[in-house]
Amino acid sequence: MHHEPLGDIPADVFRQHLHEVADWIADYREQIATKRISPTASPGAIRAQVPAGAPEEPEPLTDILADVDRIIMPGVTHWAHPQFAGYFGSTTTAPGILAEMITAALNINAMTWRTSPAATELEQVVLGWLQQWLGFGEEFSGVVYDTASISTMHALAAAREEASTAIRARGLAGRDDVPMFRVYVSDQAHSSIDKACIALGLGEENVRRVASDAEFRMNVDALGEAVAADVRDGYKPLAVVATVGTTSTASVDPVVEIASVCTEHQMWLHIDAAYGGGLALLPECAWVTNGWEYCDSLVINPHKMLFVPFDFSALYVRNIARLQKVFTLVPEYLRGDAAGAEINYMDYGVQLGRRFRALKAWMVWRTFGRSGIAARIRDHLRLAQLFTDWVNEDPQFELAAPTVMGVVCFRLTASEDEQNSRMVEAINAAGETYLMQTKLRGRAVMRLGLGNLLTTEEHVRRVWQIIREAAAGRHH
Ligand SMILES: Cc1ncc(COP(=O)(O)O)c(C=O)c1O
Repeated sequence: MHHEPLGDIPADVFRQHLHEVADWIADYREQIATKRISPTASPGAIRAQVPAGAPEEPEPLTDILADVDRIIMPGVTHWAHPQFAGYFGSTTTAPGILAEMITAALNINAMTWRTSPAATELEQVVLGWLQQWLGFGEEFSGVVYDTASISTMHALAAAREEASTAIRARGLAGRDDVPMFRVYVSDQAHSSIDKACIALGLGEENVRRVASDAEFRMNVDALGEAVAADVRDGYKPLAVVATVGTTSTASVDPVVEIASVCTEHQMWLHIDAAYGGGLALLPECAWVTNGWEYCDSLVINPHKMLFVPFDFSALYVRNIARLQKVFTLVPEYLRGDAAGAEINYMDYGVQLGRRFRALKAWMVWRTFGRSGIAARIRDHLRLAQLFTDWVNEDPQFELAAPTVMGVVCFRLTASEDEQNSRMVEAINAAGETYLMQTKLRGRAVMRLGLGNLLTTEEHVRRVWQIIREAAAGRHH
């Protein structure tokens, strides 16, 4: 029998826990550099400590919060540690955490304007700010999704609708009036494009991987040849996805030249600037936006470089009505909600319910300003260059790709792949830093990714020291 009062937990108990959690978060941030980055937990160890049976009777929050420390924390990888150099680093910030707390308290749904006017209008505002920073003209408009994978899928859905007849209405199956589409990416492009093509019924095999050059940028001659060959074979070239800041090396495809191929063959040009787009905030990096004026769509993840906490991805589309017409569909019960509003973001994608993501971008970007964000990114670029110099000066190591942004790829000189992989595994297992390994031209390389505003030169020096010690240690 259930004898607890109904409703939420008592207000005073909540307040007390809220203060505790606030202190817990402040302590976590303050002490983060002292943590072991990778957990020591073996697979299944966390799960083994939690009852498999769903909770039947109520439990006090005190116990649950204690279990966070006891059970959960030992299984956490501390992305926000200043010596975590995996992926593109971490974009945790104090204002970002505060914003997420407020967002959680509000727990609103930004599907239509009326479901919470501030959520929709703030989304318009932050998308407008980002658009100014990226230098897009008025012909572009944005929408916020969770991830770049979802942004790219929506961009290609718009491309697909535009290149054929009534796919929205009639689908793809069983039709002989729909051409065989092809999508072109470089051999460095992210797997999210393949996944988008899987989801959209375009087919994984219709994603053509075009060779990249010595600096990992799409080879435009090879693109032209692939497109021409496909046209000869009866395919319809649908889109090119150019990457600005590739996952492995942060290389930048030659967007201007790619755009000419797109114009010639009437292809949609989508730019995956998930990571690299953030450089547009630095006046000295204006080169990064070369050719953006020719694109049909571009995705940028402020959760990768622009200090907005995960997740926040923005898709910009030239004449966004082209996207809207693919997805607008107002269910009867929302007809009243949708009426009369300037914008209902549910019209711009598959999702109906949408998190209030704009608040965190608004709070983080106001706290640092463009100048503060740019200064922090600039420092990451400086640290990546410094690390590159160290690699170049040490005969034990060689650079595996040019350093373009906050990412450095390197490997042990004259080594087997296995040695590089093992070294990354050993370094990560030791817990003081965290690197990635990737493959370039089929060879294993080590990869450092910077993006955390807590990371200082001292941290990067320590990471380098750890790497050198690991390299020296492998001989013993
Ligand atoms: C270049 C690039 N595009 C897209 C993605 C996918 O991002 P998301 O996790 O937001 O889907 C990544 C992920 O790292 C990436 O590096």
